[in-house]
Amino acid sequence: MFDTMTLTKAGGAICGTLLVFLLGNWAAELLYTTETGGHGDEEIAQAYVIETGEEDTGAAEEEGPDFATLLASADVEAGSKVFGKCKACHKIDGSNATGPHLDGVVGRAVGTVDGFSYSGSMSAVWETWTPEALNAFLESPRNAAPGTKMSFAGLRKVEDRADLVAYLQSISG
Ligand code: HEC
Repeated sequence: MFDTMTLTKAGGAICGTLLVFLLGNWAAELLYTTETGGHGDEEIAQAYVIETGEEDTGAAEEEGPDFATLLASADVEAGSKVFGKCKACHKIDGSNATGPHLDGVVGRAVGTVDGFSYSGSMSAVWETWTPEALNAFLESPRNAAPGTKMSFAGLRKVEDRADLVAYLQSISG
């Protein structure tokens, strides 16, 4: 029978042809405002069947518990390992480094550590470092607080963020 590659190629060929048909149809409609022909439409229907099949498999991924649920049963040990990614810039002994110190950061007012010169972009978004604010910031600092000085790509996995916030809570005294 056909292997996936052959099907993909065939699908691609059909799509390519269809694009030409579509554009042709559209141009024809613009020019003459006639009804569209039957022939092209049949093939359009076929191509969509192929494409939707592929998209369906991709869409099923983003399921799972939300941040609050994960935080309620988060793993502090795992969180302390995740914090390894932050240690290059953040200390938890009350002294500042590249970033401000993070002891007691959960519940702390945003951008208020003495002697640290902040960008101001975080305090433009949040007032207090609630678990939710930390979750949003740490997923993608650059997107959540545009202009931030924290050059860190972000923690993509919500599980990692929940474990980390639980760890930060545990060292907040
Ligand atoms: C490359 C250095 C760097 C890394 C790595 C880094 N940070 Fe930061 N972080 C910064 C800097 C710089 C700031 C100050 C940002 C600003 O002023 O916009 C900051 C700010 C913060 C703040 C705000 C603190 C406050 O006082 O308002 C939190 C919370 C934070 N970082 C958490 C983390 C966590 C958790 C990690 C690890 C997942 C991490 N950071 C990784 C450099 C870093």
